[in-house]
Amino acid sequence: MSYRIWMSLGMIGLIAASSALGSDEGAKLDRQLCSVCHGPGGTTSSELFPHLAGMPAPYFTNQMKAFRDKSRADQNAKRFMWGISSRLTDENIEQLAAFYESQPAVHQGKISDQAKYDLGKSIFLNGHADKGVPPCMACHGEKGEGKETTPRLGGQNEAYLKRQLKVFYGNERPAATAMHEIVKGLSESDIEAIAHYLQAQ
Ligand code: HEC
Ligand code: HEC
Repeated sequence: MSYRIWMSLGMIGLIAASSALGSDEGAKLDRQLCSVCHGPGGTTSSELFPHLAGMPAPYFTNQMKAFRDKSRADQNAKRFMWGISSRLTDENIEQLAAFYESQPAVHQGKISDQAKYDLGKSIFLNGHADKGVPPCMACHGEKGEGKETTPRLGGQNEAYLKRQLKVFYGNERPAATAMHEIVKGLSESDIEAIAHYLQAQ
């Protein structure tokens, strides 16, 4: 084999090794600092905590910085995420973002109330034209998979989704400007239905 081919194989090996190192660092931080609440690899069996597996990296990064600068300020953010995020550098946040984005989202939800599920599905896919609510899927994706700075919602914990949608009635997540307008057209029972639909995706 020629010298040139050996050189380029060597370069490919180096690139592969350095990206594996980035996600190794993320995996290590996950084990040391996050998995106790969010579950190993960002899938938790507790209703208290959101899943992080499969979360788009740009959304994840924005949220970690919003906890760290204390602008995401709902009660549970303050209590659980302000302290730990203050210990992370930008580089740590990037490593964690890459790690969680690469973890497959685990779909563990179940349909326990078909009527509620159907209402949630209808709002998610079609919106509520008479109440000025756009289809959620236009931004979050058909299965709530999320993209870039828009979060994954499919398979997320039902209790977490309900809490966050109610947080958007107030102003404790000021970065979520689109969501503040959208929830004005949603009743509490609409929110219950949407959360039930999404956890089962
Ligand atoms: C003591 C438990 C606990 C630990 C440890 C913890 N978290 Fe959290 N985390 C929470 C809770 C509770 C929430 C929900 C906050 C809310 O309701 O605003 C949360 C929310 C988040 C969110 C927002 C998710 C979303 O969909 O917007 C991210 C991102 C996150 N945590 C990342 C991490 C990372 C990364 C670590 C480790 C460095 C970590 N957390 C450690 C409890 C914890
Ligand atoms: C115009 C685009 C857009 C539309 C339409 C939209 N969203 Fe969002 N949504 C966003 C963005 C962007 C965020 C992240 C905001 C942030 O950075 O804090 C978000 C955040 C959320 C969150 C918080 C998730 C988490 O992990 O904390 C929930 C829940 C949510 N949206 C549900 C909905 C529902 C339900 C609908 C339809 C009724 C909807 N969204 C329609 C853009 C949109």
